[in-house]
Amino acid sequence: MLIVRDLKKTYQIGEIQVHALDGVSFTIKEEEFCVIVGASGAGKSTLLNILGGMDIPSEGEYELDGKKASDFNAKQLSEFRRKDIGFVFQFYNLLPSLTALENIMLAEGISDHPLSSQEMLESVGLKNRANNFPSALSGGEQQRVAIARALVKNPRLILCDEPTGALDSKTGKNIIALLTKVAKENHKTLIMVTHNALLTKLANHVLQLQDGKIIEDYYNEKPLSVEEITW
Ligand SMILES: Nc1ncnc2c1ncn2[C@@H]1O[C@H](COP(=O)(O)OP(=O)(O)O)[C@@H](O)[C@H]1O
Ligand SMILES: [Mg+2]
Repeated sequence: MLIVRDLKKTYQIGEIQVHALDGVSFTIKEEEFCVIVGASGAGKSTLLNILGGMDIPSEGEYELDGKKASDFNAKQLSEFRRKDIGFVFQFYNLLPSLTALENIMLAEGISDHPLSSQEMLESVGLKNRANNFPSALSGGEQQRVAIARALVKNPRLILCDEPTGALDSKTGKNIIALLTKVAKENHKTLIMVTHNALLTKLANHVLQLQDGKIIEDYYNEKPLSVEEITW
């Protein structure tokens, strides 16, 4: 479903070149739960931003469902972000002047084949918080809204950049359980990046990034459930 070939991203800072991605290749299958793990600075966000159409590679190819996103112009990338990608960020990035339900409806409104905002809100357990603004919600609740917002678009691919990085461990566990559950129920492919090696045990597919290179690429025969790991 997703193919990445020899992807490179180089930043020029004065005289120095930073190779944020240094020749990355892998494939992701439909409905897979892939965890990309690596230390801070390994290139995780750079990679995820390219997969999400928010950044373009310096070299290499990226294909989603046969669509070569690495060749897209700005307009095509915009459409790609709108239709094909649901993104969940570390710090939720909800619009503060819209209620929980309105934040989800905004995403529903830009999609061609959306799910129901009300139903998504219910499936993340926030039915009775529909009219609350983000400032009245806890971090975990805000991330639930952000998950509903990513899924309501009914995209091909859900990308999560350190989705539990700002949460306490108990809330983080609940968020991972929710993410994997709603992704599965809706037959979505889920890619999550994290610095937390423990989370690799939950994934079908694990990629380890180090200094812009993939140093491990393997499948778990028996992924564990969230309840089975000690944080
Ligand atoms: N816009 C940028 N300009 C220059 N260097 C960058 C930029 N974005 C990322 N980098 C560098 O690329 C490397 C990878 O960064 P990043 O993808 O954010 O890593 P991670 O998400 O794994 O912490 C780091 O060395 C970082 O400093
Ligand atoms: Mg990062």
